Amino acid sequence: MEAGTRGTTSSASHPAGVLARHWRTAFERVERHRFLPDRISGPDGVTADRSRDPGHWLGLAYADIPIVTQVDDGAENGPGYPTSSASQPTIVADMLRRLDVFPGRRVLEIGTGTGYNAALLSQLLGDAAVTSVEIDADLAETARTRLREAGFGTFVVTGDGTLGCPSRAPFDRVICTAAVQRVPYPWIEQTRSGGRILTPWGNAFHNGVLADLTVGPDATARGRFGGDAAFMWVRAQRVPRRVVEAFVRPEEQAFESTRTELHPYEPIGDFDASFAIGLRMPTVLNRVEFSEDDGQRYTVYLVDPETASWASWRIEPEHRETGHEVRQHGPRELFTELEAAYHWWRERGRPVHARFGLTVSAERQSVWLDDETGLVP
Ligand SMILES: C[S@@+](CC[C@H](N)C(=O)[O-])C[C@H]1O[C@@H](n2cnc3c(N)ncnc32)[C@H](O)[C@@H]1O
Repeated sequence: MEAGTRGTTSSASHPAGVLARHWRTAFERVERHRFLPDRISGPDGVTADRSRDPGHWLGLAYADIPIVTQVDDGAENGPGYPTSSASQPTIVADMLRRLDVFPGRRVLEIGTGTGYNAALLSQLLGDAAVTSVEIDADLAETARTRLREAGFGTFVVTGDGTLGCPSRAPFDRVICTAAVQRVPYPWIEQTRSGGRILTPWGNAFHNGVLADLTVGPDATARGRFGGDAAFMWVRAQRVPRRVVEAFVRPEEQAFESTRTELHPYEPIGDFDASFAIGLRMPTVLNRVEFSEDDGQRYTVYLVDPETASWASWRIEPEHRETGHEVRQHGPRELFTELEAAYHWWRERGRPVHARFGLTVSAERQSVWLDDETGLVP
């Protein structure tokens, strides 16, 4: 089968019901497979080669899955951390729907990656209305080539997208396809009053949600969170990796040991609880490590790399009555902080993440509950 025909396009790549007609047409016209490398892997890790197994390759290209297209910023023999991907089609569609964009609007995209999202924007708005910035020079060049071959002349800039693209400003919309912890102020400066900024947003504790902000006449952007979107971080805002290995050494470090009846089910496992807790302790990572394959025995680690503090919270089914052991080391008592943040969330009636919002000015980024008077401490 010729891997240039899109016979296997699944409904997932243009999810009916989610998209308005104009976006459905764009999804039908822009062929995702044109933006993918010749070797891609599915969620099971099995690699498909375009020339050897075109059926499998096309099947993956049009499945509703993210496809990793680069690891370790392109370095050889690294640990294999994903650093670029073609995002999951339903997430792409959801973000474009939320962006509320239509012909006549000018859009800045941060994170060109494969160029697929940029192509969809170009298809709808025309090449002249779209600027896409990619920090990785090789990825930017490949995307330019693929866009050209697919018939698009989208303006792709190689550079740091957190600086926006002043020479092409002002924009009506900014869409970032990598996650930020702090919304870069240049995006606000380069967006017209009344324009919108849509970006995955999170912190070390929780990745993440979408921040949907509107730029006001006071050059401040405000809006609420929504959606469930875990993206790779923009380069300069990545969270540290392998923190348990780097910071937790109970054999040689002093720690306080206590017991708790609190189970991680809600504070760690519930999306809204964990999002709210992350707002109160944004630099703290949580990691769950299972020690038995029955899934019932595990340790939750909380690690703050900035102060080298950690806590471990050991869950064993037989300790439900006597309490689970908690150890805390370092200047910050991270489990105690987590308990306080969890109670704070419960006392406010367990608000869902969409009740929280964000205000970004030139001076600061502040998070609030319900409105700007309800600042999250
Ligand atoms: C999830 S991928 C983007 C997917 C892309 N929109 C597509 O349709 O294929 C995230 C991309 O953001 C890029 N990136 C990370 N930090 C960046 C930055 N500061 N400026 C521009 N691009 C950045 C990464 O190199 C990566 O290619």
